[in-house]
Amino acid sequence: ALNTPASPSKSDDDIEDMKRALSPEPDDIQVIEVECKPKLEILEEPRVEKPTKQETKATLETKVVQAKMAPRVPAVYVPVERTPEIQLSRAKLPIFAEEQTIVEAIREHTVTVLCGETGSGKTTQVPQFLYEAGFATNGRVIGITEPRRVAAVSMADRVATEMSLSKDIVSYQIRYEGNATERTRILFMTDGVLLKELQRDIQLSRYSVIIIDEAHERSMYSDVLIGLLSRIAPMRARKGDPLKLIVMSATLRVEDFTQPRLFREPPMVMTVESRQFRVTIHFSRRTNDNYIAEAYKKVCQIHRQLPDGGILVFVAGQQEVNTLIDWLSHDFPLNPGSKAKETKPKRVKQRKSLQSAPAVDLNDYSADVNDDRGADLDEVGAGENLGLDDEMMEREDQQPVEPSRPLFCLPLYSMLPTSKQTRVFQRPPEGARLCVVATNVAETSITIPDVRYVVDTGKEKARLHDPVTGVSQFVVRWTSQASANQRAGRAGRVGPGDAYRLYSSAVFNDEFERFSEPEVLNKPVDELVLQMKAMNIVKVRNFPFPTPPDGDAIEAGERRLIKLDVLAMGVKGAAADAVEQAQARITALGRTVSLFPVAPKFGVVLALADQYELLPYAVCLVAALSVREPLVNVTSIRGCDADETKRLMVACLKQRRTWAAQGQSHQLGDLMVLLKAIGAAEFDGLTPAVCEQLGLHHKAVVEIRKLRKQLTDLINATCKLSRPLVLDAKMKPPTELQAKLLRQTTLAGLGDQVARRVDRTTTEEEIPKGAYQTLIMKEFVFIHPTSVLLKDQPDFVVYQQIVDVSGKKCMMTVSAIEPEWLPLFCESYCTFGDVVEGESPRYNREKDCVMVTVSAKYGSSAWPLPDVKRP
Ligand code: CDP
Ligand code: MG
Repeated sequence: ALNTPASPSKSDDDIEDMKRALSPEPDDIQVIEVECKPKLEILEEPRVEKPTKQETKATLETKVVQAKMAPRVPAVYVPVERTPEIQLSRAKLPIFAEEQTIVEAIREHTVTVLCGETGSGKTTQVPQFLYEAGFATNGRVIGITEPRRVAAVSMADRVATEMSLSKDIVSYQIRYEGNATERTRILFMTDGVLLKELQRDIQLSRYSVIIIDEAHERSMYSDVLIGLLSRIAPMRARKGDPLKLIVMSATLRVEDFTQPRLFREPPMVMTVESRQFRVTIHFSRRTNDNYIAEAYKKVCQIHRQLPDGGILVFVAGQQEVNTLIDWLSHDFPLNPGSKAKETKPKRVKQRKSLQSAPAVDLNDYSADVNDDRGADLDEVGAGENLGLDDEMMEREDQQPVEPSRPLFCLPLYSMLPTSKQTRVFQRPPEGARLCVVATNVAETSITIPDVRYVVDTGKEKARLHDPVTGVSQFVVRWTSQASANQRAGRAGRVGPGDAYRLYSSAVFNDEFERFSEPEVLNKPVDELVLQMKAMNIVKVRNFPFPTPPDGDAIEAGERRLIKLDVLAMGVKGAAADAVEQAQARITALGRTVSLFPVAPKFGVVLALADQYELLPYAVCLVAALSVREPLVNVTSIRGCDADETKRLMVACLKQRRTWAAQGQSHQLGDLMVLLKAIGAAEFDGLTPAVCEQLGLHHKAVVEIRKLRKQLTDLINATCKLSRPLVLDAKMKPPTELQAKLLRQTTLAGLGDQVARRVDRTTTEEEIPKGAYQTLIMKEFVFIHPTSVLLKDQPDFVVYQQIVDVSGKKCMMTVSAIEPEWLPLFCESYCTFGDVVEGESPRYNREKDCVMVTVSAKYGSSAWPLPDVKRP
């Protein structure tokens, strides 16, 4: 219905118009500088040589022959030499006694689910069992996927050591790094790496076993892998060349992995008994917001007062890890005496500053992030306190810090360089106590030896999705009860231990979710679909997810993405709705867009913006449009009477009009207001008072700042840029050209949010003044009274939101656009007629786009969008 074919009455006037349009006077020519091609290109990963067609066939044939010759399940024993110490430590692991049962189960079943407490030996031992049982003979590889890089690297290292095998036999492969060779027989990798390999070889022919480790984390990639392997493994079994799938989980909640929808033949579920010592859990009486300061105090107490044993502290993110490490290693240096006594006040000050700026490290995109719904950080009433008492803490707080026994402080988070991560497995220096400050990396994937005390802030960093604005952002929030229990369990590995929770039991019971929600359910569906397509999974609706998202929602998402040009049907130009969507594939633009943690429509704006120095503005706008209500809506100021509201409104609008510059730049409208208001706020220091004066919500502007930083860092890290993108707090206003280009890029992402003014184009009486028509509803809409474009209403606008103002539907955050841009930037919303020979619009080969030069009057009755001739 959107593409209503046009039937313009070809009156003489119209024809004149068209002629003029097609051979425009020099002044009429609208040069459209922005091309509908991603300007931001993704950095290339290390290239993998693609085999030629012939080669592929030859290798395939050899493989088939090999498979036929190979015994169905290799029943050989491959001896491994191990040192006596290693043998001894292995023998202590609960899984060790189960070797035979596990190997037999795997031989007999295509799919095995293996549950066992963290530290029971799943990750380090199962690959060894399989190696010895002959699964790595005949040139085959045992593959293990980890959701975190640190686990892949350290586990490969550990297993190589245990087996006395070299690193080219037990290897790892993570995103830009690895030591795998032709000789590799056991390969630890991140789940993303295996997904990439699947795109080259859907049969995974070089593997005899794939182990999906840490499946309980329910990361999107491991869910997708389980889905894919639920089809591949039985297929390989039918071919007589079995591929075994082992799903390993630290929790017993595995129903999602065993459903008949996923596996026709029910998987074998095995549980390894854990050898866990008793862990006493101490809740705090109060829940203090400044959990870093609390963690610091608790570690000091433990270190001064409690017997030997390592301390493991859980915080939310990388910055917090570093802060705590700084404080602790300052107070308990490894070589005491090097630093003079210091009194507390400085520390306390530092902690205050930390409180005012929550330490969320936005640089850390990868695996420290789990998924869950948010929780309020508000303090909650008293709970029990079984720990060291608060009074003691306060007393201690007033004392000067005495140099004390050294504390061997080590950080652990996923972005830490590998060489530093593996230090946690080494012995601390003589006489020092080990203290590891970690993110949830240390929750299940890595077992740190000799930990007796766990200090848990209860916090984790998560990427949350706001369904209203469509943006994903990192937030610090409560972890789940399951995770908190995993954390506590880390204290009971070597003997009875203690876990100190820096929150009350009331908070734990009332505010913590029981389990982490699967990432695929938490992600906005458009983003999920785009990412699946980025993995070349074409039929998303039919995909066997362990917990599938709603199928209709997936299809609607696909349709939106096709219109956005981030997905395309096989046949270029085919009507999106007519062809089966299952065939839609990702475009080059889509690949770039899939990098950004914002709604795909905003991703498109970013992807097009790397030209004419536009990118900093685009980043700022996308950030601003991605948070809720940055501008104070002056029509609804609470607690003001009508007169007062009106006065405030007039003052605010006056300022906003001055911001929306004169001349051409004025057309950028409310987006210009946003740019300038944010620029002004940052220039003046971003305080609540400054923001209020500028008509901005302070909290929103702080959020915008964070998101700008996150996007800037991400673009710098992943895109080809002529020079690095800097986050400029004192951004100059855009030039006229830039303002125009910003309108064009915004249009490119928001093609379905265009409205056309209809009160002038018709003589019909009943159309009210200032009425616009949108693509999404029949009702007329109007420009919101707070918009700077209210006075001089353009013919075509792009809006961000429609709200109800006393029964009238109003568009908020409006910019003017030119209708001749529509076919170029929103081709999928336009209807095209045939072009008469010799009359352009022209296809510009160099720019690979259609240069359209039609006049604004063209296509009067062809609404929704003008119908434009296409070459
Ligand atoms: O995977 P799961 O949590 O069941 O256990 P694991 O990671 O295989 O760890 C088994 C044991 O190996 C633990 O007691 C670890 O402390 C130990 N280990 C080690 O000492 N050094 C490493 N680099 C890795 C594990
Ligand atoms: Mg493990």
